[in-house]
Amino acid sequence: MKKIIYRCRQVWRAVSATITADEAAWVQQWLQDKEYQVWQEMALADRRHTCDVAKLCYDHSRHLSAPEQTLLLRAALLHDLGKRRARLRLWHRILYVLLKAAGRPLDRPTAPSLAVSPLAVIVHHAHLGAREATQKNWDDELVFLIRHHHSPPLLISGRRHPWHLLQLLQDADNRC
Ligand SMILES: [Fe+2]
Ligand SMILES: [Fe+2]
Repeated sequence: MKKIIYRCRQVWRAVSATITADEAAWVQQWLQDKEYQVWQEMALADRRHTCDVAKLCYDHSRHLSAPEQTLLLRAALLHDLGKRRARLRLWHRILYVLLKAAGRPLDRPTAPSLAVSPLAVIVHHAHLGAREATQKNWDDELVFLIRHHHSPPLLISGRRHPWHLLQLLQDADNRC
């Protein structure tokens, strides 16, 4: 119960937050122009959240090579791009937290072909985001990190993936 209240408070903080000009400039330095444009299209709550996830990833990635750190930071900033598909209100975000806490089957591997309702979008945002990233020809590794940012490791197949980056991303995402 404490964890649910904590997560709901985080959601509330995110929807009532701001991004400073310095933070936006810091974000911009990690992204290519078109990626930054996508980040700017995200709701303020999601930009606040992704900025916080990216800062944590930055703090925990100093041991990585420069290309790996850049990939991780791009994933941190863009992982929730699928949420742009609907106008998500506070109650959608809170309901999502509650459904997850109740153990409802969320983030299934197969997204519906047409996810239009806000709740469907929030439930399937990882797969919707990965699909959009694929259409934009973003790197396979970035698509992998977006697709699986909520996946339990047991549900992911394949060895040639940046598992260590996924772990860092999931850890930071779960704390923000
Ligand atoms: Fe997410
Ligand atoms: Fe997230």
